[in-house]
Amino acid sequence: MVTFEVDLSGINPVYRPFLKDEHRYQLYFGGSSSGKSCFLATRAVLDALQGRNILIVRKVQRTLHASCWNEVLKAARRLRAAGLFRVNRTDMTLTVKRTGAQILFAGLDDVEKIKSITPLTGSLTDVWIEEATECTRDDFKQLDKRLRGPSAFSKRVTLSFNPTWRDHWLFRDFFSGWAEEGEAARTGPQVRAVPGRSYSDARVSILRTTYRDNRFLTADDRRALEEEASGYYYTVYTLGQWGARGDAVFTNWRVADLTREPPPDSLRVYYGLDFGFARDPSACVRCELDRKNRRVYVTHTLCEAGLVVWELAERLKAFAGRARIVCDSADPRCIAELRQLGVRATPARKGPDSLMHGIQWLRGYQIIVDAACTDMIRELGAYCWKEGVSDGNPTPRRGDDHLIDALRYALESEQTRRVATLHSRKEVGL
Ligand SMILES: Nc1ncnc2c1ncn2[C@@H]1O[C@H](COP(=O)(O)OP(=O)(O)OP(=O)(O)O)[C@@H](O)[C@H]1O
Ligand SMILES: [Mg+2]
Repeated sequence: MVTFEVDLSGINPVYRPFLKDEHRYQLYFGGSSSGKSCFLATRAVLDALQGRNILIVRKVQRTLHASCWNEVLKAARRLRAAGLFRVNRTDMTLTVKRTGAQILFAGLDDVEKIKSITPLTGSLTDVWIEEATECTRDDFKQLDKRLRGPSAFSKRVTLSFNPTWRDHWLFRDFFSGWAEEGEAARTGPQVRAVPGRSYSDARVSILRTTYRDNRFLTADDRRALEEEASGYYYTVYTLGQWGARGDAVFTNWRVADLTREPPPDSLRVYYGLDFGFARDPSACVRCELDRKNRRVYVTHTLCEAGLVVWELAERLKAFAGRARIVCDSADPRCIAELRQLGVRATPARKGPDSLMHGIQWLRGYQIIVDAACTDMIRELGAYCWKEGVSDGNPTPRRGDDHLIDALRYALESEQTRRVATLHSRKEVGL
């Protein structure tokens, strides 16, 4: 163990009681910018100095560097402990110089690394799964099993995430004892609960935090969260609450690692593009259609704001080569320019009812999204019907739906029944 003095003023008070929490399963969830990642990175550094060996994982390996890896390095510097570690950027490992205890990083998509990863000394004592809602229940079970072997430390799996929908496996597996604010707290052996805030029993501890718990936010950060206009985003990212599924447009989708379980061979490939510019990204989708089994595979996405036409053309040529790309027809000039620049862009036909028709068509398929398409996963998760539609015609809330639009355009030629129909709320399940 390395003796080390910690300045607690650098840690948000709400998290301090959890610095030494020993529960096997620990869930830190809630709103965006509530300080979860910063706290857990800080704790990982302190724990490694105590002799714990910690594995930090996310679903997709290439997202680790910009998130957890940097968080942990920043935390070590904040604690003035960076000099106590040997840092290997290539392998993504931090090793305590005096003891050999380690912080290791791996993506769940790097199967070989996950299987073989072992600390330099002793056994793994901790797994921290960041953005745990990206992972399947099976991923979690596999990681839980990695915590074996003798150790003087208790073994712990820590999960951090923003909530999503209540039918997520995390909610089903861990929140049966959880009470929301205003509900009566559950009682039971070893249960300690503050409704809406925390819950713990012999096995699990859960803490919910929001931006209000984070002392280190600027006034601008707070305002952005308080002024969030979308109901779903406000619920999930500002208040840190689980959303109810009833108003989701798409529930017929799931995430898979399509590099490991690729779609069947010889499916036809489609590309669709939605134009954006300053704030809105230009969004392009590559998908494959399995008509027989009624499946759409979203294999790759491209989503980037601020591109001028020639830059977009370069990106599209790298993304789709000479394949045909069906584009938003609202911008014929962009399409003409892309064609001049060597992109096989064609306009979508877009009838008067094409939005609802495309949505209803997609709802008839199972949509399987590759885990690396995180923007698409976010859009599908947040796509809701507009509230307060009283005339019987449901419409989705527009805004964060660029890739979904691109997906509709991509598969437009497949949506053959192009009659203008009025869709009732009942028909879409509202
Ligand atoms: N202990 C701290 N010291 C300094 N800054 C902090 C600390 N905790 C949080 N912050 C600041 O608050 C910001 C948000 O914190 P953090 O990223 O940990 O939130 P989060 O709950 O993980 O958010 P999200 O749900 O969006 O991932 C950080 O980028 C950092 O600027
Ligand atoms: Mg975070």
